[in-house]
Amino acid sequence: MEIVNIGNEILCSYNIGKRLNGTCKQCRVLVMRKSYAQFFVAAIVCIFFILILCFKNLPPPVPHMRLQTAGGPPGVTVLLWWYPFGSQCKMPDCAALYGVQGCRVTTNRSFYSGADAVIFHHRDILGNVSRLPQNPRPPAQKWIWMNFESPSHTSNLEEFEGIFNWTMSYKLGSDIFMPYGYLQHKNTSKPKKLPQKRKLLAWVISNWNEDHARVAFYWRLSRYINIDIYGRDAMSLVNDSVVQTVSKYKFYLAFENSQHPDYITEKLWHNALGSSAVPVVLGPSRWNYEKFLPGNAFIHVDDFSSPRMLAKYLKFLDRNPSAYRRYFSWKRTYRVHVTSFWNEHLCAICTAVKASRYQTKVVSDLASWFNS
Ligand SMILES: *[C@@H]1O[C@H](CO)[C@@H](O)[C@H](O)[C@H]1NC(C)=O
Ligand SMILES: *[C@@H]1O[C@H](CO)[C@@H](O)[C@H](O)[C@H]1NC(C)=O
Ligand SMILES: *[C@@H]1O[C@H](CO)[C@@H](O)[C@H](O)[C@H]1NC(C)=O
Ligand SMILES: *[C@@H]1O[C@H](CO)[C@@H](O)[C@H](O)[C@H]1NC(C)=O
Ligand SMILES: *[C@@H]1O[C@H](CO)[C@@H](O)[C@H](O)[C@H]1NC(C)=O
Repeated sequence: MEIVNIGNEILCSYNIGKRLNGTCKQCRVLVMRKSYAQFFVAAIVCIFFILILCFKNLPPPVPHMRLQTAGGPPGVTVLLWWYPFGSQCKMPDCAALYGVQGCRVTTNRSFYSGADAVIFHHRDILGNVSRLPQNPRPPAQKWIWMNFESPSHTSNLEEFEGIFNWTMSYKLGSDIFMPYGYLQHKNTSKPKKLPQKRKLLAWVISNWNEDHARVAFYWRLSRYINIDIYGRDAMSLVNDSVVQTVSKYKFYLAFENSQHPDYITEKLWHNALGSSAVPVVLGPSRWNYEKFLPGNAFIHVDDFSSPRMLAKYLKFLDRNPSAYRRYFSWKRTYRVHVTSFWNEHLCAICTAVKASRYQTKVVSDLASWFNS
């Protein structure tokens, strides 16, 4: 019976157990009558015969292996289960937008059984696990949890432990890390002229909440320096455009709605840096910000012993153009990229799924990881 162990053990024992027994009986009969040399010849013939039987009974190749050998890179289907925040948007053509080939991004649930990945935006499933697919999950399919809110605005994580295969968020360590923005190296060193700036300090805020640290800090800072406020209950934006409005200012309050590691949003990347206004940040620690941009590209509220000292420093920079301009030295090497919801996110998922098709993983610590 050792023959069974020559490489093809599972296939042979699985398929031809009965026939194998019969063949081996014949082998034993031969041993009784002939010499050892003849026995070995006969044994080899037996082995050969058995191997032929084995290969004839191989199971058909599994479908994804066939795809792999079919020539040309296989395509990937990612299915968005619910539209983020319920707002219907057109699904991106990743080849046209980002040069990512072989991606089908769809919301058509009839592709469920063949989808390589299914995406769930946290806000649209929380509090109701029956908003997940009710059909069994195909074996190689990845369920991807997607969230861009901070832990303060993300509830009901515990009910999803052990359900997802991957995470996608702004947080470092996500299976697919997608920040709100980042600096890109540029190969031209031609410095772009800064926009004309006659105004001092601006803040755009739509969700005014007295419980937020940023509002408390605003009240303390506004005693020492004038802050122009735009937003729902304040001045309206010039041309409805944050960039057009903020570009006229030297400084911008990039204050996050809550303070968590890596939670650095468009308030920094788009509102401040995108408008060439120096960001005054309130969010995670300075050390955390410096993981994402040079330390001399922003002013952190923690750099000062009090709001009064911060105000004093901003007024100093206002009077000293060369000191002020040093906050833009990053522009010689980098440009700002603001990630675009949701096209860029969906195509990034497709790229990641393509690259890791045969990996398996289960996210079993979603709450403790995301809240840390
Ligand atoms: C979804 O896909 C199926 C199969 O390709 C197609 O018959 C159906 O019309 C599609 N539904 C929508 C809403 O596009
Ligand atoms: C949960 O989601 C399902 C499917 O979308 C829906 O039919 C049901 O009404 C929801 N239940 C609650 C309590 O929201
Ligand atoms: C910058 O790099 C890109 C690609 O590497 C190249 O196509 C482009 O011509 C370069 N631009 C300059 C100004 O060197
Ligand atoms: C509004 O935008 C237009 C076109 O972008 C521009 O020409 C105009 O100057 C802007 N208005 C103000 C008040 O900045
Ligand atoms: C995805 O997670 C589930 C557990 O919820 C697990 O059974 C399945 O094997 C995982 N699939 C992959 C492709 O990682």
